[in-house]
Amino acid sequence: MPARLAPEEIPRRDFLGLAGMAAAGLAIFGSIIGMARLTKLSVLPEEGKKVRIGHPDDYPRGSETMLKRQKILILSRDEGIAALSLICTHLGCVVSKAEEGFSCPCHGSKFGPEGAVLAGPAPRALRWLPVSMAVDGRLVVDGKGEVPAGTFYAA
Ligand code: FES
Repeated sequence: MPARLAPEEIPRRDFLGLAGMAAAGLAIFGSIIGMARLTKLSVLPEEGKKVRIGHPDDYPRGSETMLKRQKILILSRDEGIAALSLICTHLGCVVSKAEEGFSCPCHGSKFGPEGAVLAGPAPRALRWLPVSMAVDGRLVVDGKGEVPAGTFYAA
């Protein structure tokens, strides 16, 4: 075989230099990807779906119904039906019922019975979600939306 077709040998020093530069490049690339992911909260559960929660008669006046899978509390009052998100406004853990309203198991935020912040670090109240009625007569909660606290859908 002619010598000009044989692969050119890379000196050991050059190979080690290239390998070091490749490792440094990978480390920098990984760091940049990691920093970019920091801007998104990874704790937040999926939210934002429109959920059909049944007929108004399923929620007797004066009742509070926890829909655990949807992370929503349905309040039924004389004014109508309202939906309160159970997702903590700090980093997105799911709050649970407590004596004074709700408490977050992750960092200890406390919320009043209608979602107002009683103790941080949560920066804002729990979200009240828009409630409407579909053409089939079932109630729909918009998990992406928000209405002012105290907004009830008159069913
Ligand atoms: Fe609820 Fe931090 S996620 S207090």
